Amino acid sequence: PLTAKVNNQDHLEIGGCDVTTLVQQFGSPLYILDEETLRIACRQYRESFQHYYKGESQVLYASKAWSCLAVCAIAASEGLGIDVVSGGELYTALNAGVSPEKIYFHGNNKSREELTLAIQSGCTIVVDNWYELRSLVEIAEKMGRTGDGENVESNSPHHPTTPPPHHPIRIMLRLTPGIECHTHEYIRTGHLDSKFGFDPNDLDELFAFVSQQSVLNCVGLHAHIGSQIFERQPHQDLAAVMVQWMSKAAGYGLTVTELNVGGGLGIKYTESDDPPSIEEWVKPICEVIQQACAAQNLPLPKLLCEPGRSLIATACVTAYTIGSSKVIPDIRTYIAVDGGMSDNPRPITYQSVYRTVVANRMSASLTETATIAGKHCESGDILIKDAQLPKTESGDILVVMATGAYNYSMASNYNRLPRPAAVVVANGEANLILQRETYQDLIRQDCLPERLKN
Ligand code: LLP
Repeated sequence: PLTAKVNNQDHLEIGGCDVTTLVQQFGSPLYILDEETLRIACRQYRESFQHYYKGESQVLYASKAWSCLAVCAIAASEGLGIDVVSGGELYTALNAGVSPEKIYFHGNNKSREELTLAIQSGCTIVVDNWYELRSLVEIAEKMGRTGDGENVESNSPHHPTTPPPHHPIRIMLRLTPGIECHTHEYIRTGHLDSKFGFDPNDLDELFAFVSQQSVLNCVGLHAHIGSQIFERQPHQDLAAVMVQWMSKAAGYGLTVTELNVGGGLGIKYTESDDPPSIEEWVKPICEVIQQACAAQNLPLPKLLCEPGRSLIATACVTAYTIGSSKVIPDIRTYIAVDGGMSDNPRPITYQSVYRTVVANRMSASLTETATIAGKHCESGDILIKDAQLPKTESGDILVVMATGAYNYSMASNYNRLPRPAAVVVANGEANLILQRETYQDLIRQDCLPERLKN
């Protein structure tokens, strides 16, 4: 889905920009984000809901996949809201100009500081557990919230102001549905071993408690069942379960008007991956909700989902420069690049598999098999095992595909490598969205106590 082509110099071009030129201009390694691909995915989600769902809907971008100002701003400009899971992601979304009405704050152990920030911002808090629920009531009361006023949205969506004290705090409740996904299979159980969410066996107690809290306005229910999922059935089952929960909430006088089915749609990292399209994923979820609501005579909820990976993964590639190589006769050839597990921790963490091309030899035939190694002091720092490559030389630009999700966001400074820069490309133009870290950046937070100075 990348807006990529091979130009007349046999170089890879993305968003109208020659990748080798981008590396000369912005340095290596470099994250290259194709704006059009990201926008198209946002539109596919939004339009699929508009097409298949008769009620209101809202797609949220799960910014844990890649949180930075530019990415949040692009998602927001496509009409998406943002799912955040920390004070830092909340701060980023707000600073990207995202309206707090469209920000949903998740997390199983939000700090009091984060909860306070969330209340002040006016975003919706997705409450995960009893501890958080009780803390929230306490913090809200300490902040002078009464919740006895009308539940109106803040007046100016683009100029976040703390909602007035008589507004109750918008919350959703995260529940653990007993649906567990391991990429290629899923199971349904009564109890799920998960650190997230309320136990559905607590529903009565939970709804009774929440309905008593005037300071809280429980607008909806949330569940998320996993990531990189190729099956469609688990989310359909989830949708049906959530409608049951919604009907139960009504029995406690809670008007639950929003259901959030989470994220999780997988993407194609390798040839053998075969995920459904965005439309194929959205359609049956909408149908199940509509059927279930009709059958139980319930009004259609506002339907939310919060994909991360399937919005941004394929929109980005990482360009590296090839350096040393090592041939171990009859065993393996290693080709080393100037990054590795610090800019893409997924292979070492999850044994994730990636595809690669050599940006300056696009039509050369793939005669070589080599393992792409990173530059970290760790044998496991391998980006791709047994990649099929053309004959390469040091200085060639190796591109790893589909690195938009959980790469930059999980990047580290292991071995004190500065994090790479990132650019967004569109219509032949490239703009910096993340500056390359410098050595000064690396020691910026270091403190050297006087008595340790040499
Ligand atoms: N909503 C919630 C509550 C989540 O926990 C997640 C992901 C999402 C939405 C977005 O899921 P997605 O659409 O991206 O599958 N670091 C791992 C993935 C962790 C996913 C965590 N939660 C990886 O690199 O594969």
